[in-house]
Amino acid sequence: METVLITGGAGFIGSHVVRRLIDGGYRVVCVDNFNTIYNPAFKEQNVAPFLSLKSFRLERADIRDKAALKMTFEKENPAYIVHLAALGDTRNAVDNPGEYVDVNINGTLNLLELTREYKVKNIVMASSSSVYGNTPRFPWVESETADTPLSPYGATKRAAELFAYTYHHNFGLNITCLRFFNAYGENNRPGMVPYVWTEALLKGKEIEISGDGSRKRDYTYVGDVADATILAMNKPLGYEVLNIGNNKPVSLLELLAVLEKATGKSSTRRMRPSHSASVEITCADISKAKRLLGWEPKVPIEEGIRRLIAWFRENRLED
Ligand SMILES: NC(=O)c1ccc[n+]([C@@H]2O[C@H](COP(=O)([O-])OP(=O)(O)OC[C@H]3O[C@@H](n4cnc5c(N)ncnc54)[C@H](O)[C@@H]3O)[C@@H](O)[C@H]2O)c1
Repeated sequence: METVLITGGAGFIGSHVVRRLIDGGYRVVCVDNFNTIYNPAFKEQNVAPFLSLKSFRLERADIRDKAALKMTFEKENPAYIVHLAALGDTRNAVDNPGEYVDVNINGTLNLLELTREYKVKNIVMASSSSVYGNTPRFPWVESETADTPLSPYGATKRAAELFAYTYHHNFGLNITCLRFFNAYGENNRPGMVPYVWTEALLKGKEIEISGDGSRKRDYTYVGDVADATILAMNKPLGYEVLNIGNNKPVSLLELLAVLEKATGKSSTRRMRPSHSASVEITCADISKAKRLLGWEPKVPIEEGIRRLIAWFRENRLED
């Protein structure tokens, strides 16, 4: 049984990846510090189904703590690293850039240093569509320079990709950076629009729309994102950067229409100005991921939203 060390495995995307790894016959060691950026009880719920499994071990540790990470490497000798732990809020990063540098860059460096010391077959790292900023050519291709992110969050993700390249170049590590585009679905991170609006509709609260509602996002179902992560882990490619998106951007107003139809509720709306770190459109060219991983998204937005709402009704309605 090969061991996968996953960071951020208690989070939204991570919990889906852990499920797939366990079902695929891997032993999983999850490093997560259960930070309080959002309610850590949600993360406890995410990992609860795994805690009794022999093939799962939870390490409550911080990726900024290199000594703790080193002990985990020493003990577990992982064959693969899936690195998802990060601070991930574009707007929050504008006011707290130092924290984002600490976790998203220095934490990543700790992992890269350790993978250099302990041989691993492959490293998959979460990057983000935020690296593209407002790149005006659509769909976005990985060969864009991606040097004008709007948020310090995007800057830390781009920096992590660049550091990863240097570790590939100097030490021959296999590293694939996946640029995720607006994941949504079960275990959704609260604070993201699909979650916030699902909650508002089901609890009869007002919906806040930023800008005029025309802003578009390439919403990608979390199960598809997790599938791409597993495929990437199983296929060392040297160094690659791959977009993982849906290639079908929907506007905020279109998303709201899908949510209204799926919940059977109509919204009361309030418009507010857009944040300066919010991009206008995200849209992934996914041909490279198709070619190199044989991956493409399977779940259309109507179905993914239906699953998000069903999960929300079961797990969050009482909160
Ligand atoms: N959700 C998206 O749409 C999206 C889009 C682009 C990129 N990403 C990236 O994907 C990854 C996963 O995102 P998510 O949406 O699941 O977020 P999440 O916040 O739900 O998950 C991140 C997890 O990492 C943990 N973590 C944070 N800092 C840590 C630290 N210092 N040490 C140990 N653990 C720590 C958190 O406790 C959390 O459980 C992140 O790297 C994020 O930047 C997500």
